[in-house]
Amino acid sequence: MMATIIEFIKRKPLPVAIVLIVLIGIGAFAMKQAEAYPALACAPCHNMGPYVEGYESAELLSHKHEQAGVKCIDCHDNSMGDKIHETWAYVTDDFDDPLDQHKFSNEMCLKCHNIDDIKGKTSYGQVNPHDSHLGDLVCSDCHKMHTKSKTACSECHNFEFMQKLPAEWEK
Ligand code: HEC
Ligand code: HEC
Ligand code: HEC
Ligand code: HEC
Ligand code: HEC
Repeated sequence: MMATIIEFIKRKPLPVAIVLIVLIGIGAFAMKQAEAYPALACAPCHNMGPYVEGYESAELLSHKHEQAGVKCIDCHDNSMGDKIHETWAYVTDDFDDPLDQHKFSNEMCLKCHNIDDIKGKTSYGQVNPHDSHLGDLVCSDCHKMHTKSKTACSECHNFEFMQKLPAEWEK
């Protein structure tokens, strides 16, 4: 069988190459399409914990993003290297369950959000979580995607606005 295939490739290298390229193209295209659907691309493994379910239905900031049409891969690049690493970790059962909570740099958020616009929208009287004596903002000090968010101010203050935060905030 193998010998026949090799013989055929030798006789018709060009058509074989063309068919291969088309197949790879379709494969890559299909992968890109599938990646936009977490149920296909992420859920087989990431129903582990709150990720896909939380994104689809919980009172979490990730769900607010789902409602705004933002996909997992719009935040997480999920490169080929990540895919290989994650698949290997999954198959060999070599990962922490639940996963450690990660922190990502502000870059992740700022590619879509403009901090000056945000500041303008969150001025509660004299108090603004995006413009305070804490200085430089690390988004993840307050905003969490897959668990409840919590303001870093609450360690020391109990401002009125903190009682009225949306449902994805810890009360
Ligand atoms: C084959 C199973 C599998 C699939 C499919 C999968 N993941 Fe993962 N993922 C894992 C495992 C296992 C880990 C933990 C890896 C570790 O701890 O080293 C992980 C870790 C992660 C992390 C943490 C990354 C880090 O920096 O360590 C992110 C983010 C992530 N996955 C996002 C996704 C997204 C988004 C998708 C869908 C596009 C996806 N994964 C699809 C198995 C998978
Ligand atoms: C709007 C951006 C955004 C979207 C959309 C998003 N994530 Fe995340 N993800 C984050 C951030 C930020 C963290 C860091 C932990 C946190 O904030 O909860 C994270 C952390 C993770 C981790 C690492 C473990 C941890 O808790 O830190 C995994 C796995 C993960 N996300 C998977 C997914 C999957 C699967 C989807 C889609 C169903 C998804 N994420 C959608 C931003 C996002
Ligand atoms: C791929 C683009 C994208 C990325 C990346 C992204 N967001 Fe968003 N975010 C949106 C969109 C779109 C909305 C809904 C429209 C709006 O409120 O701006 C939104 C809404 C929000 C809201 C308001 C939710 C509400 O309606 O109350 C917060 C808070 C937020 N994002 C924080 C973050 C943080 C923190 C990060 C980084 C971890 C992040 N976003 C990453 C696109 C993004
Ligand atoms: C000290 C805590 C804190 C930090 C740090 C923080 N935020 Fe916020 N953010 C809040 C609170 C509180 C709200 C108001 C409640 C809400 O809309 O979710 C908010 C609201 C938002 C909104 C929605 C604004 C609106 O009304 O449309 C966006 C978008 C946002 N933050 C993005 C960011 C980004 C991006 C960063 C990092 C550069 C960041 N935040 C850092 C506490 C914080
Ligand atoms: C480590 C403790 C700590 C944290 C965290 C903290 N503050 Fe403060 N803050 C103080 C202290 C101490 C004062 C000065 C004493 C006072 O007036 O209460 C103060 C004063 C203030 C004041 C002026 C006085 C007032 O109460 O109106 C504002 C406004 C303020 N902080 C906002 C914030 C905001 C917004 C955050 C979160 C982004 C924050 N602070 C986080 C300790 C903290």
